[in-house]
Amino acid sequence: MIFNEFAYIAHPDEPTPEAMLEHNGRPKTLAHVRAVAQECQRIAGTYGLDASKCRMAGLLHDVSAVIKAADMLSWAQQNGLPLCEAEERYPFLLHQRLSAVAAQQAFGVADEDVLSAVACHTTLKAHASPYDMALFLADKIAWDQPGEPPYLEQVLQALDQSLEKACLVYMEYAAGSLLCPHDSWVQALDWLKHKTL
Ligand SMILES: [Fe+2]
Ligand SMILES: [Fe+2]
Repeated sequence: MIFNEFAYIAHPDEPTPEAMLEHNGRPKTLAHVRAVAQECQRIAGTYGLDASKCRMAGLLHDVSAVIKAADMLSWAQQNGLPLCEAEERYPFLLHQRLSAVAAQQAFGVADEDVLSAVACHTTLKAHASPYDMALFLADKIAWDQPGEPPYLEQVLQALDQSLEKACLVYMEYAAGSLLCPHDSWVQALDWLKHKTL
């Protein structure tokens, strides 16, 4: 189990992602994942998705933040995960994939909608499902920084039209500031640009 491989990780009695974050000194991440779970459930209500899957995806999505970024990279290399250049340069990008690994190994999650959404919540991916897009957007709307995100109004307006439109608006906003975009991000943006929205 991935969390057992790092001696510095504390193991709460209660095996939940929230307890994991709390017991490993991540109060800000805990507040963030709760806000994301709430926002993801709100999006579920608008788009007819399963609210419990959206809640679960929100609570799980950043749980691997208890692992140090350098360890994320060495774990991924040792376990033969194919890596893109962005992940090698910025190993914290791996937290989306490692949170999905942790969801399976530490919390017994088997739901493909949840695992897929967690695994691409930072970058999205081409042919994203409504669950992938709902979590991606919830993570950006309920971001983990102080104050309101600068793109909030634009993204919420687009979300009145469709999940795809909202993802595209956010990605076009953020694209200019990415020094080394993740392969999945590039493919997702290309997919959305060529999709009829
Ligand atoms: Fe994240
Ligand atoms: Fe997040």
